[in-house]
Amino acid sequence: MDKFVIEGGNPLNGEVEISGAKNAVLPMMAASLLTEGKSIIRNVPNVQDVMTMKEMLETLGADVSFLREKKQLIIDTTGTIGYEAPYEIVKKMRAGYYVLGPLLAKQHRARVSLPGGCAIGARPVDLHLKGMKELGAEIDIKNGYIEASCDKLKGDYIYLMGKNGTSVGATINVMMASTLADGKTVIEGAALEPEVENVVQFLNKMGAKIKGIGTQHLEIEGVKELHPAEIEVIPDRIEAGTFAVAGIITNGDITIKNVNLLHIETILNKLKEVGGKISIGDNEISVRGNGGIISTDLTVAPYPGFPTDMQAQFMALMTVADGISVITETIFENRFMHVLELNRMGADIVIDGSSAVVKGVKNLYGCPVMASDLRASAALVLAGLSAVGKTDVHRVYHIDRGYEKIEEKLERLGGKIWREKE
Ligand code: UD1
Repeated sequence: MDKFVIEGGNPLNGEVEISGAKNAVLPMMAASLLTEGKSIIRNVPNVQDVMTMKEMLETLGADVSFLREKKQLIIDTTGTIGYEAPYEIVKKMRAGYYVLGPLLAKQHRARVSLPGGCAIGARPVDLHLKGMKELGAEIDIKNGYIEASCDKLKGDYIYLMGKNGTSVGATINVMMASTLADGKTVIEGAALEPEVENVVQFLNKMGAKIKGIGTQHLEIEGVKELHPAEIEVIPDRIEAGTFAVAGIITNGDITIKNVNLLHIETILNKLKEVGGKISIGDNEISVRGNGGIISTDLTVAPYPGFPTDMQAQFMALMTVADGISVITETIFENRFMHVLELNRMGADIVIDGSSAVVKGVKNLYGCPVMASDLRASAALVLAGLSAVGKTDVHRVYHIDRGYEKIEEKLERLGGKIWREKE
């Protein structure tokens, strides 16, 4: 296992290039199972989750090459494709469940391990299953697996809003399944995240007929077959937001390139509110610290609200703000795993139900900390960059799942951070 060692207190300066969005690539990779032939996905981030999905597609019989230099995935689905997504792969990455919709639609059969819970909460899949059932699939849960089958899926009216709002995963999974269904499907309560939109673009390039892009009402006219296609992945808005926080928390001055400004508007507004100096360019932003950070309250919400995937990083910033902030998590019930670790670094945070009350302190102090999930690890790295002294962030495999070589990007900006074997 690897750890990061960080010597805090160095302002970050320079330019950083944002990679493609992993949350768009993963369902796109699964979507290639709807076709036979070679699809090409461009601007693919070199992150562990992509490698796990590659392994999944290979297990199902696809031929996948990842050209790292070109940031390109070539997925060839010609030939026999299996129908089983084993526990060994889904346990590493919940998004493995994305093969359910495509396999059902194309092979009329799927056996997909139930993903179970994870560090940030229970994360059920009931909405995914409700959608598949309404499309006519028969679903059994046996020996920890979802066993799904159908003669041919049939379009229907499907309401996908869950108790915590829209679901990115269920929207994409059910949408993928409905592309090959007989007749028309309406998904009401669809998630609005840009990654959903990017997947719609890919499916439409494959010949799917999906209307309502960017709205909560998607209409999918089923087609007989889909063909392979090429797509460019959108920039990762969460990686961009994480680097923007890094600029402010270290009182630095960085230019973040390859961003979609529209996708990060809410994040940038919040960062401006707390004192970040932000200037906007062409697909890039410059972020400068202003010597002081102002406290503010924050409630996460589905897109276009402030993303839950930026909650931990924003909390790291508020630990050194002037005043008290209340940060409320509405999407995942247990997404405060970073709080105790931040407190070990000298932060003053009290959890009160789904809110965290953060009393800003003058400095954080470096110490050994443990990464618990992907975004919590990013928060600990940010805290380490601003802290006085040395921080060891253990279990960085969590961060490798979703950030492309974050330590190298930070080092090029002047951060004192490196990877060591445990
Ligand atoms: C995706 C993202 C994750 C992000 C999350 C919310 C990927 C690979 N992951 O996760 O980074 O944090 O969106 O923006 O894209 N829910 C149900 N039943 C279901 C499905 C979800 O109740 O069947 C609930 C969840 O527990 C959660 C809420 O719906 O409370 C939103 O979750 P969802 O949008 O589905 O998250 P993921 O797609 O798993």
